[in-house]
Amino acid sequence: MTMAEHSGIALVTGASRGIGAAVARALAEQGARVAAVDVRAEELDALAVEFGHTGLSTHAVDVTDAEAVEALVDRVERELGPVDTLVNVAGVLRSAPVVDLTDEDWAATFAVNANGVFHTSRAAARRMSERRRGCIVTVGSNAAGVPRTRMAAYAASKAAATMFTKCLGLELAEFGIRCNVVSPGSTDTAMQRELWTDTQGPQQIIDGNPAAFRVGIPLGRLADPADIADAVLFLASDRARHITMHDLYVDGGATLRA
Ligand SMILES: NC(=O)c1ccc[n+]([C@@H]2O[C@H](COP(=O)([O-])OP(=O)(O)OC[C@H]3O[C@@H](n4cnc5c(N)ncnc54)[C@H](O)[C@@H]3O)[C@@H](O)[C@H]2O)c1
Repeated sequence: MTMAEHSGIALVTGASRGIGAAVARALAEQGARVAAVDVRAEELDALAVEFGHTGLSTHAVDVTDAEAVEALVDRVERELGPVDTLVNVAGVLRSAPVVDLTDEDWAATFAVNANGVFHTSRAAARRMSERRRGCIVTVGSNAAGVPRTRMAAYAASKAAATMFTKCLGLELAEFGIRCNVVSPGSTDTAMQRELWTDTQGPQQIIDGNPAAFRVGIPLGRLADPADIADAVLFLASDRARHITMHDLYVDGGATLRA
């Protein structure tokens, strides 16, 4: 891709660390001005220092709060300009068997992973459709497409976000606005490391676990956040101008795409 491939304004949620930070870095490297959104204010400050306060504005906003999201998009458009690209990365994982999931686990998971995507996408879509310009990428999960033990709330919330994004893509197609999903498999981030329960670390994820009916990762490695960012940047670029309502799995083959 050329340096100017992403020269507009990009709003990235969940940008303080992990995949969101990788997306923010990659967009900025290609010339975008990035509005980085997260609930973790301190980590956002650290990211701003890393960026040297150029090409990045930081916004401590909770995507579960619809009013705050509206105000955020308003502010970003006033201060930076029209949002060309929205990347929904903010997400949470509460891992437990269904019989142990609390009402609060379920609600908190959907509040971020599904409602949050709705809030940001609605606010961006209203403005993008008026301008007949823009694109949206939602980071889902390969768990949305294959049943997983201990992940029912997470997987269901990601399936909701995925289908929401595809339906939005259908509604916005007439304005030339594309909406796509990137579904990562196991990616080396803080969220992933919380799942490593024993000294084997990632090896058990790579090898798979027949007792949990989970195949391993055929390509033999976890993803780096940059692998996911590459897929997001492709879908957000003009090189993907004829791709919408697509769900791109970046999981080293872990779901066998069955
Ligand atoms: N790491 C993986 O193995 C993996 C696999 C599949 C999908 N994903 C998805 O990728 C995305 C990024 O995950 P990650 O691994 O980088 O996780 P992470 O926990 O490192 O990053 C998630 C970010 O989202 C932010 N966030 C959470 N709730 C928020 C809220 N209410 N408002 C604003 N920001 C909020 C967090 O503060 C954090 O910075 C998530 O949506 C996750 O579900 C991750």
